[in-house]
Amino acid sequence: MSSADAQRAAQILRRGGVVAFPTETVYGLGADASNPLAVRRVFDIKGRPATNPVIVHVADASVARGCVGAWPQAAQTLAERYWPGPLTIVLPKADAIVAEVTGGGETVGVRVPGHPVALAMLQEFARLGGLGVAAPSANRSSRVSPTTAQHVRDDLGDSGSSAESPDMILEGGPCRVGIESTVISLATPVPTVLRPGGVSVEELRKVLGDVQVRGGIDVGPAFSPGRQERHYAPRAKVLSFAMGEEDKLPSARADMALITLSPRELSEPAEGSNRVEMPRDPVRYSHAFYRILRKLDVPDVREIWVELPPDDPPWQAVRDRIRRASSNQDSLP
Ligand code: TXA
Ligand code: MG
Repeated sequence: MSSADAQRAAQILRRGGVVAFPTETVYGLGADASNPLAVRRVFDIKGRPATNPVIVHVADASVARGCVGAWPQAAQTLAERYWPGPLTIVLPKADAIVAEVTGGGETVGVRVPGHPVALAMLQEFARLGGLGVAAPSANRSSRVSPTTAQHVRDDLGDSGSSAESPDMILEGGPCRVGIESTVISLATPVPTVLRPGGVSVEELRKVLGDVQVRGGIDVGPAFSPGRQERHYAPRAKVLSFAMGEEDKLPSARADMALITLSPRELSEPAEGSNRVEMPRDPVRYSHAFYRILRKLDVPDVREIWVELPPDDPPWQAVRDRIRRASSNQDSLP
């Protein structure tokens, strides 16, 4: 990728096109957040329900302020500390943000992504008079989020190959964080984490004081649909087992894959054919998890068994994604 690519991406977005772009968390599928038709096309490409709000990506905090109707001190504090980075802040929306972005609601999630390619694109987009780029993860709805440009092509087709494909896929290498941003609402009386992610709840508590976590996974009309069941899931059936209980699993079969925890904090997952030993470190684990799930999710594999990491604060986002990937199995083909 070159800065010319980022500029071209910004132009396509300003003209109402759809661009897949890298962020530090996962790849996003972007459209101009002030263009209802463009945003609708993103929903069509993903097959996403129109009631599920999308995050607006902006070049910096001053642009974010133009997307929201209020900017409390807590937002300023979080922005200074975590942006650019894997934190989405939900606030009352500004008029310029169209209903297609917010799922018809009165709030909007905003975030400055920590990726140089995304920032170059967003800065150019702002220079061209744009405000923000609305972007869900660039996967088909309810599937595993993409952490490379190739994953995007695998899910949505190459750019321009059909009306169902993005107009451009901006290359940015493998995503550093590897799972989606933390979503925190400041539109509630007490700041509320709606989705755990790259910034941990304990960290947010240190910065903000009282922070609630919406427990459980919602089913039905979505308050924050990334919290719904059967999200972030591969095709194979995903089953989890308690740490250290591998001996209780059914005996290994060819149609079974296994993701275990290494006894060590390895820098890379150790991959056997249907078996992957993941680093015992939440940051390294997150970085690799979606890539490994995609890799193991081949037609011959019917079950992916995942060893659950410890129920400790630094592992909450990973445990959340394993739980979602393994929920609601009955609806699987
Ligand atoms: O890391 C990320 O957040 C990635 C990259 C591309 O930025 N994006 C992402 O988008 O994961 P998406 O659409 O797959 O997930 C966005 C999550 C959903 O759970 C959605 O319900 C929630 O954020 N969300 C967005 N706007 C919201 C709002 N106004 N109120 C409540 N939840 C919101
Ligand atoms: Mg998503």
